[in-house]
This record gives sequence, C-alpha cells and structure tokens, in this order.
Amino acid sequence: MKIQQWNGADFPHVIAGSDSLPEYVAANQHPINQALAACGAILFRGFDVPTAEDFDAVVQAYGEPGFTYSESLSNAVRVNVTDRVFTANEAPPDTSIYLHHEMAQTPLYPSKLFFYCQIAAEKGGATPLCRSDILIDQLREADPDLVARLESRGVRYTNVMPASDDSGSGQGRSWRSTLNAETTEDAESRLLDLGYGWEWMDNGSLRVTTPVLDAVRQLPDGRTVFFNQLIAAFRGWSDQRNDASRALSFGDGEPITADDMREAIVLSDELSFDTEWEAGDVMLIDNFLVMHGRRPFEGTRRVLASLIS
Ligand code: FE2
Repeated sequence: MKIQQWNGADFPHVIAGSDSLPEYVAANQHPINQALAACGAILFRGFDVPTAEDFDAVVQAYGEPGFTYSESLSNAVRVNVTDRVFTANEAPPDTSIYLHHEMAQTPLYPSKLFFYCQIAAEKGGATPLCRSDILIDQLREADPDLVARLESRGVRYTNVMPASDDSGSGQGRSWRSTLNAETTEDAESRLLDLGYGWEWMDNGSLRVTTPVLDAVRQLPDGRTVFFNQLIAAFRGWSDQRNDASRALSFGDGEPITADDMREAIVLSDELSFDTEWEAGDVMLIDNFLVMHGRRPFEGTRRVLASLIS
C-alpha cells in the first residue's frame, strides 16, 4: 500500500490494531476526528470486526447521528442490513463507480461515511479515494476558466428514475423509493419542495433536474473542494434510461461537455489512492474533503456502508 502525503499528513491515515474496534473508537474519538480533519480518510486495519452487527457497533460507538438511505435522494439501489448499515451499491461487479462526493448531486448529503469490508473480492474491487482540495488546486492551475465557471454558475444534474428498482444500473433506484412517494402526486409535491424540475416519461419513469447546486465549496477551515458529482455522472451515468452526455449543465443551462471534463478526469485519476480491501477493514471518510468510488471486481465482494448526517 503506497500511502500518499499531503501537507505533512498521510492519506489515508492508517490505524492498526487487533482488539475491539468499538472500544477503540469510543476511547479515541478526539484523535480520530483530528486525523480525519487533517487528511479526510482513516483506515482501521487488523481490528476484530467479523460481522455487519460488529460494524454497526463501531458506527454507534463513534456516536454521531445517522443519515438514512430512506430520507436520502441517492440514485443507487441499496439494501439495509442493520439499522445503521446498508449495502454500498448493488450495481453489477463489472460496473465502475467513478469518483464522487456522496449525494453531492442532491441538496441532501451526509457529512461522513463509514465503509466496512466483510468479504474482499478475489480480484479488483478497490475503493479509490481522491483528495478534493488537492484536485481543485491542480484543476485551477490546469483549467482556470472551468473552475471560474463552476464557481460562478454552479451545476444542475438531470437523471431518469425508473418506476421500479433496477439493480442492473448504478442509477437504478426507482422514483417511488428515491422520493419516498406512493403516487405521482406525492412525487411531484416532494420535487416541488426540493426545487426540482421534472417530466414524466411514457414508460412511467421520471426525468428530474436538480435546482442549481454548488460545484465548488469552501470548507469552514478555508480549504476549497471540488464538491460535486460531475466525474461520476459524466463517466458513469449511462444506462437504459440515461445518457451521460445530457446529464450535466452549468447552473444557467449550458451543457457541460467532454472538453470541460477532460482535465478534471485526468487529474483525479492521477490523484486516486486505491484502497485494497482486507476482510475486517473499516474506513471513515470526510465526505466534504474526499471523493470515493468503486473499481470493478470478480468474485464475491461484500462492502457495507453507513452514513453520518
Ligand atoms: Fe458513494
């Protein structure tokens, strides 16, 4: 594992142990949060975390309130395993999930994420991580005009949600589940509340466009981050219903093109750190500072997630 270093801090920060992780987390909250604020990702390795229930206990020991999948507007199909824990994404093994900040394509997003590897894939399946503050600094050098346009205009995302869950797609969550709606009227009233535009399709699916969302954010400590879902959407939002080239626009409606995305994609690939999972690993990620994704894999892979509100 070749750890990166940014501004004098390891990325990710690795904490090795062998005992109970819930006890360790409960006793070391302050240093954990300090390390997390410095670098954005902590890998807990070697602790005794055999089951989803044990992972749930780790999350509870950390003590911060959860962000539930049912209240989120995530596009991914997921399955709850315990109260606080769900499958990370049900998309097929050969599907890449590209770098993103969790749910940054919606107005509702978690502040932190936990991942837990119960079973490591035979081949592939790493979780790439990317420091979003470093990325925006490098992108500003490489393509200052793009960063200026993103900062001043923001972004809108358009996607099509099926009438019922399609686990064959990384964006397969139905509009009923996404919007917590039984009827089309319920769906429309939720979308109105959230400031979305929408259009019903003949086959019962629903095309929605977000209100203008930030693409670049300033964190309370002064760091600037590439806080959005542009890379994942541009590279990955293609399925039976969605055309990635139509998914993204600046806040004023001008499409975001392949040309616009080129430097961000090249730089984020160069900056990626691949977390090669070992069974029992737990990772804590600051969702404002670090992007994550999923490499394709072969064999059985069971990585579970939990979100902090
Ligand atoms: Fe994610």
